[in-house]
Amino acid sequence: MYNIALIPGDGIGPEIIREGRKVIEAASKIFAININWIEFPFGSEHYLRTGELLPDSALKEIEDMDAIYFGAIGDPRVKPGILEKEILLKTRFYFDQYINLRPIRLYKGVPCPLKNKSPEDINFYVVRENTEDFYIGIGGRFKTRADQGHLEVLRKLYKAKIQVDFNLEQEEEMAYQIGLISRPGTQRVIKYAFELAKKKNFKRVTSVDKANVLTNIYGLWRDVFVEVSSQYPDIETEFTFVDAITMFFLQRPEWYRIVVTPNMFGDIITDLAAMIQGGLGVAAGGNINPEGVSMFEPIHGSAPDIAGKNISNPTATTFSGAMMLDHLGEISAARAIENAVEKVLSEGKVRSNDLGGNSSTQEVGDEIVKKLKEINIKCF
Ligand code: IPM
Ligand code: MN
Repeated sequence: MYNIALIPGDGIGPEIIREGRKVIEAASKIFAININWIEFPFGSEHYLRTGELLPDSALKEIEDMDAIYFGAIGDPRVKPGILEKEILLKTRFYFDQYINLRPIRLYKGVPCPLKNKSPEDINFYVVRENTEDFYIGIGGRFKTRADQGHLEVLRKLYKAKIQVDFNLEQEEEMAYQIGLISRPGTQRVIKYAFELAKKKNFKRVTSVDKANVLTNIYGLWRDVFVEVSSQYPDIETEFTFVDAITMFFLQRPEWYRIVVTPNMFGDIITDLAAMIQGGLGVAAGGNINPEGVSMFEPIHGSAPDIAGKNISNPTATTFSGAMMLDHLGEISAARAIENAVEKVLSEGKVRSNDLGGNSSTQEVGDEIVKKLKEINIKCF
């Protein structure tokens, strides 16, 4: 019996999680898995109604559970950073989910924006560090306009309908934000990347950084990469600067097997990578602590513009659900879900808006469940 915390979150979160859960439940029936879902209301609605973001008591409760299944976070009604930092990042940090694993795979039948690339060409993993770098939240702003009384002045002038043109050069406002990585934090993620290469029998690990400019932080990253890689003599290694990898992802995605990256660059390049695999609608991910509670969520966000219209693609969330089952050791169920989704994608009869079809969120979920049952019948 698994206890899974369910956090649907904002925007399309609830509708995609509903389908993902439905698929997992169908697989659970087939593979005799027992799941107890514990749903939490955290997200913008809850915040706007109650002022509560994510209380420590909920995290404490989740400590005893087996995993978290997460939809999406973000709402235009809330200033950027509040929900993201206080719900999503807080969870990643609290459970020390130091790996953000993002498989990049072009599935058969999924339209690829790159010319002449087929599923054989796009098949790699981005292993994103998930607890350090510029995400640690150390920073500050000084001599802000408010500090200098500018806002008050502006308001008065605005009320008096007097046009103002501030002399920006006279303002001294400053801000800083610190990126920090540690040797152990870097070691563990790079080691994970090499172990994954070994497990998948992939012969190349690519390290991403910007060691030509941010020489301190990514200088340490490189030192650790060299050290760790020396323990894996059969695996080829290379360093690539983050700007260059955005170009290479488009030019020769087939080169990549395992890409290991610091947190912020990993955030950026996985949106790009998601596009080459056919879009955010199919891109799955997992925030993993191999020794603790992990959280599975699609790479995409809450897509408020299409929320509630029943047109979002639940595929990424469903794949993330398969990653969760795989992580829990339910390998057969995970494979079965993957196969079912792949079937739906390759047949292309039931296809959501983002992939050029007009099936609803629910129809896609239903079709995956249908395929899951068919595959199962064929197996036994
Ligand atoms: C992601 C998201 C998050 C991140 C945001 C919502 C905090 O963009 O999971 O990629 O930056 O990690
Ligand atoms: Mn992102």
